[in-house]
Amino acid sequence: MEFLNRVAVITGGGSGIGRAVAAAMARRDVTAVALVDMSEAVEDVAEKLNTEAGRVFAIPFQGDTTDEKFRASVFDAISRKYGTVSLCVPAAGITRDDLAVRVDKNTGKARIYPVELFKQVVDVNLIAPVYWALEMIGRVAEERAAKGLKRWTPEEGMQGSVVFIGSISSQGNRGQISYASTKAGLEGAAATIMKEAMYYGVRCSVIHPGFTDTPMVRAMGADYVAKNILPFTQLGRLIQPAEIADAICFMLANSAVSGELWVDAGWHAPA
Ligand SMILES: NC(=O)c1ccc[n+]([C@@H]2O[C@H](COP(=O)([O-])OP(=O)(O)OC[C@H]3O[C@@H](n4cnc5c(N)ncnc54)[C@H](O)[C@@H]3O)[C@@H](O)[C@H]2O)c1
Repeated sequence: MEFLNRVAVITGGGSGIGRAVAAAMARRDVTAVALVDMSEAVEDVAEKLNTEAGRVFAIPFQGDTTDEKFRASVFDAISRKYGTVSLCVPAAGITRDDLAVRVDKNTGKARIYPVELFKQVVDVNLIAPVYWALEMIGRVAEERAAKGLKRWTPEEGMQGSVVFIGSISSQGNRGQISYASTKAGLEGAAATIMKEAMYYGVRCSVIHPGFTDTPMVRAMGADYVAKNILPFTQLGRLIQPAEIADAICFMLANSAVSGELWVDAGWHAPA
């Protein structure tokens, strides 16, 4: 599945992995990318990506991925100008890390992880990515229905592809009860979408990156990375966003890919 003449939506495109995926798609001749992020930096990032590519392909959209009206408006705007969206990488994500249960040394009372934080992480990391994918699939399905097309056949070529961003944390990681749950949740969503959306010729899979050199990981601090991440990473360094982006483009493009890909640099978590 070539990216030429294809239109993509990338959330979390203003930073880290999302930004790197946009750059990698540009090198593969994608027609246009809706670069979605709640940070105002997305405008500047789109401008830089366009300058690097020597053409205008990245169109910035600033907003919250959990906002349904915003989501529909992004798809409306990008498809009106460039055509139906057929590549979706919903990469926007957050961490709200803390131990699941923490006992106060002074009072002896247990404080359990706040449910409102858990819900926030579920909204951003699980529900939003699934709905950005469903928005794309719904539009592909509508377009097919309008043409009188029913069940997709392989001769038609792929109609679309989604890659969710899981994490090595989906296998369990201390201090990440909410984050790990959402990343594991994406596995069930992707497997279900893969079974249902193939009716319309759309594939769905999950990439599980290891620790990648982005603001999300840099926020942990250099000392934390040196002590708690690098010793358990066989590669001995953080993964570069471009390496994850390359793997994501492979997964989007190769029609035989479904399921999950671990791009973890040999991460073996301590117990
Ligand atoms: N960096 C890693 O080591 C790593 C490892 C595994 C998985 N991931 C996943 O990769 C994805 C990208 O992470 P990253 O490392 O590039 O992080 P990042 O913090 O560099 O980028 C995430 C972007 O998402 C945006 N965002 C967050 N919530 C949003 C919302 N509600 N609406 C719109 N935009 C929102 C942020 O503004 C930010 O620009 C995330 O889903 C993350 O969980 C990262």
